[in-house]
Amino acid sequence: MSFKAVLRGCGAFLPEKVLTNDDLSKRVDTSDEWIRERTGIRERHVASEGELTSDLAAHAARAALKDAGLTADDIDLIIVATTTPDLTFPSTAAIVQAKIGAGAGAAFDIQAVCTGFVYALSTAEKFLCAGQHKRALVIGAETFSRILDWEDRGTCVLFGDGAGAFVLEAQEESEAGDRGVMASFLRCDGRLVDLLYVDGGVSATQSTGYVRMQGNKVFREAVTRISQAMVAVCEEANVPVTDIDWFVPHQANERIIQGVVKKLDLRNDQVISTIAGQGNTSAASIPLAYCAGVADGRIKKGDLVLFEAMGGGLTWGAALMRV
Ligand code: ACO
Repeated sequence: MSFKAVLRGCGAFLPEKVLTNDDLSKRVDTSDEWIRERTGIRERHVASEGELTSDLAAHAARAALKDAGLTADDIDLIIVATTTPDLTFPSTAAIVQAKIGAGAGAAFDIQAVCTGFVYALSTAEKFLCAGQHKRALVIGAETFSRILDWEDRGTCVLFGDGAGAFVLEAQEESEAGDRGVMASFLRCDGRLVDLLYVDGGVSATQSTGYVRMQGNKVFREAVTRISQAMVAVCEEANVPVTDIDWFVPHQANERIIQGVVKKLDLRNDQVISTIAGQGNTSAASIPLAYCAGVADGRIKKGDLVLFEAMGGGLTWGAALMRV
């Protein structure tokens, strides 16, 4: 039997607390004007004390299940993409499974920093298409605010917290029709670890550490690698890039998004951008942006959607899906 991984529903969650650029300019030597011009960010959501990555993920998961018309009992695979897990172990996925009351099935985390959701989506698709699992919750969830050095203006202005979730279902090709994940492309170049990393961890320092980034070097790598990944998935699916309905990028920097749009001859009205109000929510940014596009009626069932991301590792990738 041949299966496809079809999107049944999506859900999003943002913490209530908002931090504006002006708020940040009281903490570090920066300004609303600098942040908006260099990144496109106006404000970001930040988790409150005691509000954990698994809490954000569980809220998004419940919203996605509701959107899909399913319950937690219907789920037999949970993959959480996160760089900011609740604990070193067990996985945040295991904690989310308990919080939403899902039954038996597999649950694990994926760590590919900002590319995490694309890695998770591609992994879930393989499990579903292999016939090993029936319905997956694929979640991107982060409390990046917890690993920021709030005295480093080069990084603390960029990130925000949040979570987004997809429910994917294995459907036989006859039922799925042309819907489903069509292609994905995942890459990592570990020689570039130094461009973007956290200066602590279980084995190295027995602490969490803070984000360190050579932002301008990451920026220089971004447009080329992201564009290559997008072209690769479109070629695999035999679809011209310009035929997509929606471009849902990882929301790292509005200038990177614009660079890709220009390089691939896309139109600005094909782009779903949430960066102004959310900043870079790492693995959560793609499902959050997708949900925003669905919520305001732009993305509709049957549309062709292209996702991309790049993050620490360096990792990068893309996925193409008819929703
Ligand atoms: N406010 C004011 N000035 C600042 C700030 C700030 N918040 N941050 C840096 N500056 C200063 C720098 O100190 C530097 O000053 P100098 O010229 O006196 O030395 C100047 O601004 C220029 O710094 P650059 O780093 O060259 O600025 P750039 O235009 O590259 O913008 C940015 C910085 C926004 C970080 C950009 O490089 C970027 O977006 N990089 C990519 C980030 C990314 O995509 N990350 C991947 C995903 S994240 C993940 O995986 C965890």
